[in-house]
Amino acid sequence: MQIHETAFVVSTYRSYHEEISKDVNARLWNNPATDALIPDIVKSISEHEALLHSLRNRYFHECMGAFFQKHNGGTLINFGSGFSMYQFAFDNNVNTVEIDKQDIVDYKKEKIDTWVSEGILPSRDIHYAAVDFNEGSVEDIVNELTPLIQKKPVFILIEGVFFFLSRKTTDKLFKIFEAIQKPGDLVGCVTYLPEVEQTDVYRRLLHYFDSNNDTNDSFNHQTIPHSYFQNIDGYRLQEHIDEFELSKKYAPDSGISDKTEILNETMYLLERI
Ligand SMILES: C[S@@+](CC[C@H](N)C(=O)[O-])C[C@H]1O[C@@H](n2cnc3c(N)ncnc32)[C@H](O)[C@@H]1O
Repeated sequence: MQIHETAFVVSTYRSYHEEISKDVNARLWNNPATDALIPDIVKSISEHEALLHSLRNRYFHECMGAFFQKHNGGTLINFGSGFSMYQFAFDNNVNTVEIDKQDIVDYKKEKIDTWVSEGILPSRDIHYAAVDFNEGSVEDIVNELTPLIQKKPVFILIEGVFFFLSRKTTDKLFKIFEAIQKPGDLVGCVTYLPEVEQTDVYRRLLHYFDSNNDTNDSFNHQTIPHSYFQNIDGYRLQEHIDEFELSKKYAPDSGISDKTEILNETMYLLERI
């Protein structure tokens, strides 16, 4: 599986549970090639994947909605934005900077521009930046992004991305975040904790990636301990919650009774200090 395919897959998951994800535009990205991948993923890894990704989206939807309402707008910077559609979830006093690899950004911009011009989506102030997080220095990336950030405060989101990155690149990203944010700004991010590595469902995930490996698209499979988020320079850990807890709140009839039976990711909210 190539990395861009993972972005289509999670978007399709959100479209299966609109009432939970609150992403009513995800369905615009649905396509037959992705539909054809999903039955095998669900069978090989876990039947709960679509719901869990929708819960993750819901959590950040709520966090960002509250942040932008409190501040009467601002800028959402979405690192590794894939095909996420938060830029249309909030009022038009929220600007968005969408950052991803060149091919994703080009494809996304073209489709979004078309849908806006056809009146399928409302007009929003959206900037795009093509960045490979593994390349370029902190300074280069900060210099590229700074002119795109035209409204304060700034909420940085990075979801579904750390798994694919090394710790070195993750550390670099937090240096970038520290440089572009001001006290009171927030980062929302997601990780698998190392204890998830002991679960059968996580082993099935790795096995799935190994057996569907595309030679040109190698990536890591990083897990990050809780202590990492307690010790990031310039940030204070504000809250954290996992998908198991979110399922009790937003999907009480899901039938998920044990966190070890699901691919349980943990969401972190960090405040720039
Ligand atoms: C699973 S998708 C998640 C997309 C989106 N955040 C979401 O939750 O729907 C992972 C995204 O991270 C991006 N990504 C992975 N490695 C990257 C890198 N080194 N530089 C920039 N983007 C990267 C991929 O292109 C892809 O869009």
